[in-house]
Amino acid sequence: MKTLTSNELRKLYLEFFKSKGHAVIPSASLIPENDPTVLFTTAGMHPLVPYLLGEKHPAGTRLTDVQKCVRTGDIDEVGDASHCTFFEMLGNWSLGDYFKKEAISWSFEFLTGEQWLGIPKEKLYFTCFAGDENAPRDEESFGYWREQGVAEDHIFFLPKEHNWWGPAGVTGPCGPDTEMFIDTGKPACGPDCSPACSCGKYLEIWNDVFMQYNKKEDGTFEPLAHKNVDTGMGLDRTICILQGKKSVYDTDVFSGILAKIAELSGKEYGSDEETTKAFRIVADHIRCATFMMGDEKGITPSNTDQGYILRRLIRRAIRFAGRLGIEEGKLHLIAEQVIGQYGEIYPELRANRERILSELNLEEERFQKTIKQGMKEFEKLATYLKEPVIPGKSAFRLYDTFGFPIEFTEELAAERGFQVDREGYEAAFKKHQELSHAGAEQRFKGGLADTGVQTARLHTATHLLLAGLKKILSPDIQQRGSNITAERLRFDFNFPRPVTKEELAQVEAFVNQAISEDVPVVCQEMSVEQAKQEGATGIFESKYGDVVKVYTVEGWSKEICGGPHASHTGELGRFKIKKEQSSSAGVRRIKAVLEGQEE
Ligand code: ALA
Repeated sequence: MKTLTSNELRKLYLEFFKSKGHAVIPSASLIPENDPTVLFTTAGMHPLVPYLLGEKHPAGTRLTDVQKCVRTGDIDEVGDASHCTFFEMLGNWSLGDYFKKEAISWSFEFLTGEQWLGIPKEKLYFTCFAGDENAPRDEESFGYWREQGVAEDHIFFLPKEHNWWGPAGVTGPCGPDTEMFIDTGKPACGPDCSPACSCGKYLEIWNDVFMQYNKKEDGTFEPLAHKNVDTGMGLDRTICILQGKKSVYDTDVFSGILAKIAELSGKEYGSDEETTKAFRIVADHIRCATFMMGDEKGITPSNTDQGYILRRLIRRAIRFAGRLGIEEGKLHLIAEQVIGQYGEIYPELRANRERILSELNLEEERFQKTIKQGMKEFEKLATYLKEPVIPGKSAFRLYDTFGFPIEFTEELAAERGFQVDREGYEAAFKKHQELSHAGAEQRFKGGLADTGVQTARLHTATHLLLAGLKKILSPDIQQRGSNITAERLRFDFNFPRPVTKEELAQVEAFVNQAISEDVPVVCQEMSVEQAKQEGATGIFESKYGDVVKVYTVEGWSKEICGGPHASHTGELGRFKIKKEQSSSAGVRRIKAVLEGQEE
């Protein structure tokens, strides 16, 4: 068996399939173009969906590539030996060209050939689809493996949960597959031990999917006019096996990144379990975040969709970097390492270097800021607890508004002898996910966000506008009227003359700065007296009753108001003043809108 570096494996794979008449195509973006049901490209076939469904590919009917992929279903598992959020998938495709026979013989040749991976065939095991109502038992593939000289007891028939792949999202091409495993030499876990079990004896290295069906929205499988082959080999995982390592983090893929983390933290990778875990999390998350921000469709951290996943990754990395003792503001040095390592293969990382580094720095600054506000909120919460359990909703709020991951809240709680209602948290989380999923769906249908959400955002924008007018025109400015629809805000205020273009531009810039810093909008209930003391603006009339709600955008605005409001200023998108005119004597009127929101 050959001990290859990751660069060598990439080259060798493409070279092999080139020799079999395949065109080498570049990796596509991490953001899928053809499938609104998933956030990221999760497999090599993803960008090829239209071609698998029958469209003609300009490069021909035999393709091969290395595709960058992201799977974020189990971010919280990262830190163990095998989970990574970002990975590269080696693949080859037949678009209505060759089928099972060639796919299987080439897979076998690449795995075992002396010139290629040179894996002894005794170490290899294979699985085939056992058959069900949608497709027959795959005796054909079994026969082709046998033709290669594979022993019968090295081939297993498994049901759909193991040997069916796709679609990548909800609908699309899919079919039965045959998978290739390597025996690690570990003893069998029992008499039934097989490639179906997860005891670690058999590790999957490659998957050949025979894409003959298109799964439709109603759940039925429609046979495709062309039979395709889609294969996928995980680069990091295969390298790990070829290099005989226990973890992908121990391979050359991660050595440079881990060395950089060691240099910045002064700690040693592998010195103890906690340290090892923190190293892996920082390494994985920064690698993934670098690819997301450096993608040709460059994502930036936000509170929705891809941007939200990116934000979670960066924030989790910040937290664990902090535990390792890495100084604030140093994560960009790890990103530089990633760019250096991958820049030649993925030139978009080099081209977008400035953006990657500045977005990372900006997000770090933002989080350091919210972390302080979140700590205040936590302290307040801790003071008023009636029993030593933090309610799930509060834990979720710390997560959602201040970006506190649940484990972080649990740790803080434990230090004070409290627990967190984890079930309540999960319930709140699930509810939120359902809501954001619904929001995303709406967006894909081309619709606008819910009217309620939109007016809440305009409400928050109105607070920021008043704060901006006070700062730029005069501290004496007060609200004289406000009217909000789902489309725009209208705001009247006292001012003796028309506002100049320059002044309007400054006010706009003020509001947009507050938006770009993505500050949480915090609501507190307090007495009118206290609100006055805290310098809140707003109408201090008794109609609000004794206790009023004060909405604070820390550092920008504090105002008495009934709400509701956006939860973060980042949601607002871009603030734009459309019109400034007279309303009545000594009163001016501004009309403004929010544009470019993500959801
Ligand atoms: N699309 C197949 C996979 O991801 C090859 O395993």
